[in-house]
Amino acid sequence: MTYVVTENCIRCKYMDCVEVCPVDCFYEGDNMLVIHPDECIDCGVCVPECTAEAIQPDTDTGIESWLELNAKYAPLWPNITKRKEPPADAKEWDGVANKLEQFNPAPAE
Ligand code: SF4
Ligand code: F3S
Repeated sequence: MTYVVTENCIRCKYMDCVEVCPVDCFYEGDNMLVIHPDECIDCGVCVPECTAEAIQPDTDTGIESWLELNAKYAPLWPNITKRKEPPADAKEWDGVANKLEQFNPAPAE
């Protein structure tokens, strides 16, 4: 089992999650983070840290495509362990539908 970063992280990218992970398994894309499924120890500590409620267990229904996205990009993106400044318009994107259209596969700079 693993926890998975899902749609509402896109363009919110609050990054509170990275500060609490005991195994530092978050990876940073341009406008979203992902969790490395093979590194996550399923502790669940990051879940309440995300005010966008974007982190879910992989046992939730309908999560398969997000698990695939996390597994695909975690090895391609840089590791992140310190919170940075979130996007200036993060609050405006919180809860917006169909944010997958906004997903940027590029790694963080
Ligand atoms: Fe890290 Fe625990 Fe969250 Fe997995 S569930 S990403 S180990 S804080
Ligand atoms: Fe994304 Fe929530 Fe972390 S918005 S960056 S999963 S705190």
